[in-house]
Amino acid sequence: MTELSPIPMATRDDTPGFARGWYVVAEIADVPPDALVPLAFFGEQLIAYRDEDGAFRVADAYCPHLGAHFASFDGRIEKGEIVCPFHKWRFSAKSGKCTAIPYTKVIPPQAALTTYPTREFAGTVMMWWDPSGGAPDYDPSDLRDTFADRTWIPYAEKRKEGRAPFRDLFENLFDTAHIEQLHKSVGLPQIDAVTRTAWGMQVDYAPSAEQMFPIGHMQFNFSGISFVSHVVLGEGFGFIQNVSATPIDKERFQLHVRMYISDTGSKEMNDMIGGAFVQRVLDEIDQDFEVLNFKKHLKRPLICAGDGPIMRYREYAGEFLPA
Ligand code: FES
Ligand SMILES: [Fe+2]
Repeated sequence: MTELSPIPMATRDDTPGFARGWYVVAEIADVPPDALVPLAFFGEQLIAYRDEDGAFRVADAYCPHLGAHFASFDGRIEKGEIVCPFHKWRFSAKSGKCTAIPYTKVIPPQAALTTYPTREFAGTVMMWWDPSGGAPDYDPSDLRDTFADRTWIPYAEKRKEGRAPFRDLFENLFDTAHIEQLHKSVGLPQIDAVTRTAWGMQVDYAPSAEQMFPIGHMQFNFSGISFVSHVVLGEGFGFIQNVSATPIDKERFQLHVRMYISDTGSKEMNDMIGGAFVQRVLDEIDQDFEVLNFKKHLKRPLICAGDGPIMRYREYAGEFLPA
């Protein structure tokens, strides 16, 4: 029997380039002070580091001089400067400008790192990607700030590589029919309202009493189509997961999930609730990937009654995707 393997993305999704937006590229702890951390996203080689003020930065990994990879050989960050391993040109970690060349005093005026807008956000390092080079035009949103009356405890962090057509990944959350059919969940919560926000889209669900946990409130907050914060609140429990997906190249993306539970005051209770939620969510993600990793993006899907607001999501996603 032939084993199922995904065919090249160009034949499953011909979207040119990657969507504009804020993307998680690292956990804060992955980028300690004085480290030059190599990253591979958007089909590019990048480096992440902190400048002398501790602010996170992401730059193109290739030196503008002759193209050495900054993180190769003895490439390093030293006294607030990135030192290229090849001819030891130095670049300010803060401004990106070349500050010194060991064998000449004449620094070419355009000698600088190619940097990307970068921010620390919700325990992660995020970078802004825009295929047309535009500046960030929205801020990501973390629902822990909205539901700040509770104490949110970090419970788990997971990363997983996927091969789904990137643009269809979060569409899955609007595909309400698959929740019963694929995940075999019962007492499916119904979408109550879909609202455009300044940074993206908010989806509220009607309360459901038939779930594993009786849910009082459930909401997804999208920031573009690269980050979503999801809250589930009930009597005596609360769960937030922040999920982001960052293209590695045209074929693959990295899913990054940070899960928080609201402190019940008891460690045993926290572990019981956290463990159950996390397991459930991770199982569902695994199930989704069993199908999504092999699917094709259909431009004209055959939608029927009961399918959920999939086309509404597509309209929204189109605002961030290159045409
Ligand atoms: S390639 Fe970087 S200093 Fe020459
Ligand atoms: Fe799913």
